[in-house]
Amino acid sequence: DAGSTPAASTKYDRADDSARYNNYEGGVMSLHAQWSTRLAFMLAAIGSAVGLGNVWKFPYITGENGGGAFVLVYLLCIALIGIPVMIAEVMLGRRAQRSPISTMQVLAKEQGASGFWQIVGWSGVFAGFLILSFYSVIAGWAMAYVIESASGTFNAISGDGSGDVFGGLIGDPQRLMIWHTLFMIMTVAVVARGIRAGIEKLVVILMPLLLVMLLILVAYAFNSGEFGRGLAYLFSFDFSKLSTDSIIVAMGHAFFTLSLGMGAIMVYGSYMQKNTSIGSSVLMIAIADTVVALLAGLAIFPLVFANGLEPGAGPGLVFVTLPTAFGAMPGGQFFGTVFFVLLVIAAWSSAISLVEPAVAWLSERDIMSRVRASWMIGLFSWILGIGTVLSFNLWSGDEYKVMGKTFFDLKDYLASNIMLPLGGLLIALFVGWAAKASMSKDELNLSSGTFNLFWLAIRFVAPLGVAIIFLNAVGLL
Ligand code: TRP
Repeated sequence: DAGSTPAASTKYDRADDSARYNNYEGGVMSLHAQWSTRLAFMLAAIGSAVGLGNVWKFPYITGENGGGAFVLVYLLCIALIGIPVMIAEVMLGRRAQRSPISTMQVLAKEQGASGFWQIVGWSGVFAGFLILSFYSVIAGWAMAYVIESASGTFNAISGDGSGDVFGGLIGDPQRLMIWHTLFMIMTVAVVARGIRAGIEKLVVILMPLLLVMLLILVAYAFNSGEFGRGLAYLFSFDFSKLSTDSIIVAMGHAFFTLSLGMGAIMVYGSYMQKNTSIGSSVLMIAIADTVVALLAGLAIFPLVFANGLEPGAGPGLVFVTLPTAFGAMPGGQFFGTVFFVLLVIAAWSSAISLVEPAVAWLSERDIMSRVRASWMIGLFSWILGIGTVLSFNLWSGDEYKVMGKTFFDLKDYLASNIMLPLGGLLIALFVGWAAKASMSKDELNLSSGTFNLFWLAIRFVAPLGVAIIFLNAVGLL
């Protein structure tokens, strides 16, 4: 198994051994697994970033927030907050070459900062586990929809009929459990195989496939949909439609879509070679993620408009509105199926990065083997996911809600709105304030002008931006 780290099998407490740690350039730490090429790292990180967030969430929140102006704010947030925080995460992982928990431990020590900072690693492991427990269920909807589309369920279906198909699926705990289980097994099976033989092998196949499928769908929308209206919807900046709330949604999403704040990107960075440039890699990852979100919008909105449907339908946009559009169009059965396969691929390559921080820690500390760790984390997440499944049916009633939220809403809220922004805030504060500037200078190797820009962003802009998302999420703003 070329992908698993040889270090995982040595009984050796690396994180606490500062003598070896100080020597990490010298070869000891090369025991930690590495991507085989820079491209492999890029594809894995793009795979993590491009997910349900891009194809399912971005189009519907754009629809809910009126289109163009929202998109512009989102792009600004990616540039001003997302990119600096992503650079920080990759840099920390690459410097320490360990799991996020040990990375924060060891770098806090190196930088003379408090041991408190390792909370970033712990909260990330926990957030990943929470997110996976609902991500897997939603990805399961997409899997069920591959079968529905392919078998012609949506052909010439009415809006109400499509709503009934969706209601029938989420109202059926058994069907949801089957797909949730299948998706979890697919995810764990990849992580269990390790970095090179598992994650890398998967993303090298899936990411090009995803791009091709997306381009096919955009071409279809160009030919058969109202492409001009879709384009205008995404890119006409009508600021009258922009509320304070939209700005905060855009900022939160910029964060979620880049997989920031929980160590997923940090752990991927830890497998990166020492001689590759972090800044330009991160720039390309962020651009790729953004381009995919915009292309997804360009695949979806023209079809929605061509069929006189509503772009502001909310979470049902992709699962109710879009199938109606496909159902009404020539070739819709085929292209609809392609769309849902794409959604599954996007979700799969993201889900693996939700498990990796915890698995990396358990196997690096030799608490258990990578294979065991992967299945165990998957099992816990799967069990917690049963609650997600039930929150759409048996537990959907008010008597099961806490603060007006179902179990699913609660987990989504806690992880996406609280833990991720908080993790990101701490990462920015650690790099910008707790650690010395020399750490970032050494690791990033930027020209002084570019470095100053990064420094300004990571010390001031990003923490303020993230603090605003966070305070808003907990109701203090
Ligand atoms: N970026 C993923 C998406 O857009 C979701 C996500 C958020 C994520 N945080 C993550 C994925 C951390 C992996 C790891 O769908």
